[in-house]
Amino acid sequence: MFDLVRAGAALSLVLASAPMAHAQGASAPVVVTVDPSRPGSKIDRNIFGQFAEHLGTGIYGGVWVGADSRIPNVRGIRKDVVAALRAIRVPNVRWPGGCFADEYHWRHGIGPAKDRRVTINSNWGGSTEPNSFGTDEFMDFVDQIGSEAYVSVNLGSGTVAEAAEWIEYMTADPATTAGKERAKNGRKAPYKVKYLGLGNESWACGGAMTPEHYTDVMKPFARFVRNYNPAQTGDEAMQRIAVGPSDDDPAYTEGVMKAWKAHDWSWNIEGLSLHHYTTGGWPPSYASTNFDEAAYARLVKTTLEMDAIVTKHSAIMDKYDPEKKVALAVDEWGVWLAPTPGTNPGFLQQQNSMRDAIIAALNLNIFARHADRVRMTNIAQMANVLQAMILTDGDKMVLTPTYHVFKMYLPFQDATLIPVRFDAGSYAQGDVRLPRVDAVAARDKAGKLWLALTNLDPNRPARISASFAGMQVRGARGELLTAPRVDSNNSFDAPNTVAPRPFSGQAAKGGVQVDLPGKSVAVLQIDG
Ligand code: AHR
Repeated sequence: MFDLVRAGAALSLVLASAPMAHAQGASAPVVVTVDPSRPGSKIDRNIFGQFAEHLGTGIYGGVWVGADSRIPNVRGIRKDVVAALRAIRVPNVRWPGGCFADEYHWRHGIGPAKDRRVTINSNWGGSTEPNSFGTDEFMDFVDQIGSEAYVSVNLGSGTVAEAAEWIEYMTADPATTAGKERAKNGRKAPYKVKYLGLGNESWACGGAMTPEHYTDVMKPFARFVRNYNPAQTGDEAMQRIAVGPSDDDPAYTEGVMKAWKAHDWSWNIEGLSLHHYTTGGWPPSYASTNFDEAAYARLVKTTLEMDAIVTKHSAIMDKYDPEKKVALAVDEWGVWLAPTPGTNPGFLQQQNSMRDAIIAALNLNIFARHADRVRMTNIAQMANVLQAMILTDGDKMVLTPTYHVFKMYLPFQDATLIPVRFDAGSYAQGDVRLPRVDAVAARDKAGKLWLALTNLDPNRPARISASFAGMQVRGARGELLTAPRVDSNNSFDAPNTVAPRPFSGQAAKGGVQVDLPGKSVAVLQIDG
C-alpha cells in the first residue's frame, strides 16, 4: 500500500517503485482505503482556474463576437460560452496572456471603437489585434461568468507607471480622474481585481531575464501597482503572483523565493507561478486525433511528471517559506499537441479527446494532493486554444471531454482533501508502464464525501473495492466519463461522443464496490 497523501502526493514516486511493476488481472479488485478521520488541506477552488489569451480564436470568436454579431451575445460576449462557463463555476480567468501580456498596452483597448488601436499580434500568428476586447470587455466577461479577474500586467515591454495606471483605471474611486475615465467608458463603480500577474515567462518570451534581474524589475511593480478598490481588504485584498519556474528548472524558484525571504515592508508577493505543459517533446508533435494506444500511454506517462515537478518546487519554496505563505500557482498547464492540420500553426488549435480528459483528471488529482502549496492553477486555455474547455466555429460550440472533467470535479472546489491509500497496480503498453488507477477523495463544504477515480488502462475494467475508515457506506452515485476509444472526441457534428452519464457503486462489506470501465473518469458521492 502506498499512502499517496503522506508520501507527498507522489504518483511518480509510486511509478518509480518496484512493487508497482506487477500486472494485475482484470478481476483483481483495487483496494482503496479512504480515511475521513484525517482531513488534509483545503483544495482551493482556484485550482480549477482558466487561462484566456489573445491567441488565435481564444478571445475573438471564442468569447467575443461583437454586439452586432448574429451569434447571440450580451454586449458582444457569446451567450452560449458564458452559459457553459457559468456551469463549471470558473473561479478565476487569467488574461490577457501569456506572451501576449508582455506586449499588451491597455490603453489600446479602452474607450469608443474609433479609438481602439489596431495592432499586430506578434506572438501568435501575426494576426490583426483589433483591441475590441479590452479591459472593460474582460471585466464584463468575468462578471457574466461569475468569476474573478486575474490580470497579468506588462512587465516585459511596459513600465511600472503603465501597469500602475491600468490597475488605477480599474479600481480607483469614481471621483478621481482615473475613475471618471472608467465611468465615461460605462463603469462607475470600481472593478475587483483579485489577482495580479507580475509579468509572464520572464525567463523567455517575457524578456529573457535572469532570475536576479527579473526580481529587481518585479519589485517596483509589486510596490507601486496599487489596488484602490475600498472593498478589497483582508481576504479580498489583491494577490500578486510573480513569475516563477519553467518546468523543473529551479533557477527562478530559488531566485525569487530567496529575494522574497529578504523582503521588507515595501514589497511582497502572494504567489509564484509555475508553467509546465504536457508536450512529449518540442515542438509538440503528438496528434490530437487518430492516435494509437502507444501514443496515448507515452503522453499519459509524460503528464504524470507534473507531480515530481510540483514536489521539487514545493521543496525549494519550503526552504524559504516553511509557513507556506506564498502559493505555487501553476498558471499554465495542459496538453500541448500538434496543431490541427490546415489551421494557422500560430493559433495553437487542437482537438480534445478522452485521453485529454484523463490527463486533466490526473493533473487535478496531483494539484489536489499538493493543495497545501498549490492554491491556484490555470489550464491553457479556455476556448479554442490548446487543451480547451470549449471549441467554437462561427455560431457552433462544442464542450470538450476536458470540460466534462472540470464539471464533474465541481464538488472538489474548496473541499477538504481526505487521504486515500491504494495499490494502483499497473497498466503496460510496450515499454511504458503506468499506474492502472488513480484516486482522490475530499469532503465538500456541506460535509459530503466524494471519491474521484480514474482508470488509465484503456482495455481493462477495474473493480474498485473502497472502504471508509469508521464509516458504514450505503452506496455511491455520481457520473462517469468514458468513450469508445482513447482518441474519441466531440465534434460539431457529434458533440456527445464523450459525455458524462449517471454512474453508481454498490454497497459491499461496509464499503463500496465500483466497476470502472477502461479509460474512464468517475466522480462519486459516497452515501454514508
Ligand atoms: O499558452 C500559450 C503560451 O505558452 C503562453 O503565451 C506562454 O506563456 C507559454 O509559453
